[in-house]
Amino acid sequence: MMLDVRRINACGLNLEGCGVKKIIVEHLKYRYPQSTELALNDISFEAEEGEKIGFIGCNGSGKSTLCQALTGLVPHFYRGAYGGHVTVDGMEVMSSSISEIAVKVGIVFQNPFTQVTGAKETVYDEVAFGLENLGLPRGEIITRADAALKLLRIDRFKDQAPFSLSGGQMQRMAIAGMIAMRPRIIVLDEPTSQLDPQGSDEVYQALDDLSAQGLTVVLTEHKIEKVARYCDKILILQNGRSMAFDTPAQLFSAKNTEAWGVRPPVYTRVCRELLRPPAGVYPVTLAEAGEALANWEVIL
Ligand SMILES: Nc1ncnc2c1ncn2[C@@H]1O[C@H](COP(=O)(O)OP(=O)(O)OP(=O)(O)O)[C@@H](O)[C@H]1O
Ligand SMILES: [Mg+2]
Repeated sequence: MMLDVRRINACGLNLEGCGVKKIIVEHLKYRYPQSTELALNDISFEAEEGEKIGFIGCNGSGKSTLCQALTGLVPHFYRGAYGGHVTVDGMEVMSSSISEIAVKVGIVFQNPFTQVTGAKETVYDEVAFGLENLGLPRGEIITRADAALKLLRIDRFKDQAPFSLSGGQMQRMAIAGMIAMRPRIIVLDEPTSQLDPQGSDEVYQALDDLSAQGLTVVLTEHKIEKVARYCDKILILQNGRSMAFDTPAQLFSAKNTEAWGVRPPVYTRVCRELLRPPAGVYPVTLAEAGEALANWEVIL
C-alpha cells in the first residue's frame, strides 16, 4: 500500500493541514464609534490549524473586541474605525460579509444568555436552529445536533426549555449550537465563566477533542491556570495592545507578566520561589510542578 507522505510525518503523526495558517491578524487597529480610544491598537498574531490560542488580560483590555474581529462583527456590525488585516481560513474579514465568515468561524459570546434565540421551545431546537438556517436536510440536522448535544454532555436536557437551564448548562448549549455548524475556527469568549470546576473540565475536554480534529480554537479566560494548561500559545492584551504572544512556558518564565496585569499560574509562582530550573523554563501546570518539585535543585 502506498503511504501518503504528504500527510504523515517521520513519527507517524498525521500532519494533515499542519502548518496551515488559519488566522492571520496583521497590524489590526479598531476604534468603536463615538469612542476616542483605540480598543485594539496594532495587534498582530497568527494561528495554525488545530492550534489553541488564549487571549488574556485585565477587564477592558480588548479580549472580546478581538474575538469579534475574528468573526467580522468588528467592524461590519459595530462599525467604527478599522485598520490592518484579519484573514480567517483564507478569507479577508474586511471584504467578506458576516454570513460568509460565519460558515468558517463560530463564536460563543461572553454572556451565554445573549446567545439564546428566545424563539425555540427546547434545547434541541435551539442547538439545531443554526443548522435549519443553513437549509440542511432533516437527517443531517438530527445527526449534527445529537452529536453536539452529546459532546457537551447536555443530551439529557434536550427536551427542556432553554431558559430552564442553569448558566453553566446554557453555556454548554451555546457551545453545542456553534459546534453543530461545524466551523473550522471556534472562538469562545470566557466559555467557562458560568461553570463549576467539573463543568469547566468537561468543556475543555470537548475543546481538546475538537482541536484534535483540526479545528483552531481561540478563547478568552480569566482563570490563568486553565489557559496555561490548555493553550498552545497565549496573547496578552493591555489597553488594546498586544504585550506578548508566546507559549505559556516561555511567557510565564521569561517575562514579568504582572506588569501587564496578568499573574502567572500559581504552580509557576511556587516553583519560582523554591526551585532553580535546569533549562530556564518554569512549570505552568500542576503535573509539571509536581515533577519539578521532585527533581529540580531547591534554592536554599
Ligand atoms: N460596544 C462598545 N462600544 C464602545 N466601546 C466598547 C464597546 N465594547 C467594548 N468597548 C470598549 O472597548 C474596550 C475593550 O473592551 P472589551 O470588552 O473588548 O474588553 P475585555 O478584555 O473583553 O474585558 P472583560 O474582561 O471585562 O470582558 C473597553 O475600553 C470597552 O469599554
Ligand atoms: Mg470580554
